[in-house]
Amino acid sequence: MKGIILSGGTGSRLFPCTKITSKQLLPVYNRPMIFYPLNTLVKAGIKDILIIVAPERAGDYLNLLGSGKEFGVKLTYEIQDKPFGLPEAFIIGEQFIGNDNVAMILGDNIFEDDFTEEIKNFSIGAKIFAKKVKDPERFGVIKFDKNMKAEAIVEKPKEKISDYAITGLYLYDKRVVDIVKKLKPSPRGELEIVDVHNWFLDNAELDVVEVKNEWVDCGTFDSLLQAQILARERLQHLLVI
Ligand code: DAU
Repeated sequence: MKGIILSGGTGSRLFPCTKITSKQLLPVYNRPMIFYPLNTLVKAGIKDILIIVAPERAGDYLNLLGSGKEFGVKLTYEIQDKPFGLPEAFIIGEQFIGNDNVAMILGDNIFEDDFTEEIKNFSIGAKIFAKKVKDPERFGVIKFDKNMKAEAIVEKPKEKISDYAITGLYLYDKRVVDIVKKLKPSPRGELEIVDVHNWFLDNAELDVVEVKNEWVDCGTFDSLLQAQILARERLQHLLVI
């Protein structure tokens, strides 16, 4: 299993803090934000990790994380010229992925759960991770039928369809690259990760696992504050890097 950390974008919701640095380099308690998703992958045993960054921040990531030797892993870097949507990561990472499975985590997503077993047991198809939240309208949302089987997946639905948000950790087999190549941008002009999930759902190859412990997407000032507290109170003993 290869790993990708998607850490580009403009971080416009965190302006002016992100005017001079990348959102995923802002401090979350005692570490730059990206250390937490990196920790999640390293802890789960992933040794080969691609970090995708915006061009103007690439040097900062290299200075901070280097070759990865320090963490016992190999880090590779690629540039995303413009934020064209999460799935573009699989096109940028095509050569890196090769014939392997891939776990992609968003650079602003902080998890308390340990995913070692889920990653070890993954062989084919797609596996995504859902969490019941109070503000599902901020996320990709998944609706279950009465047997808890996934029924529908929608990005930031206007009408409430479910309380389950889809978190920013995704496991796919290598077909994801070809699936993404066939996607069309949505009306907001980006490739949408929910279209990838829906492809696997329509093929009955989507596995959905519930996240048991805390999860924060640090996309807003309030969630960033929540992440700081979580990191201080509950994550320190889980860090291996
Ligand atoms: O956090 C989980 C959510 O992440 C999911 O529930 C949604 O389905 C998914 O679309 C995503 O929603 P966000 O509103 O958080 O997406 P955002 O555009 O903020 O991008 C997420 C991260 O990925 C962000 O840290 C920046 C980075 N990014 C984003 C885009 C669109 C890139 O590096 N490149 C991109 O092209």
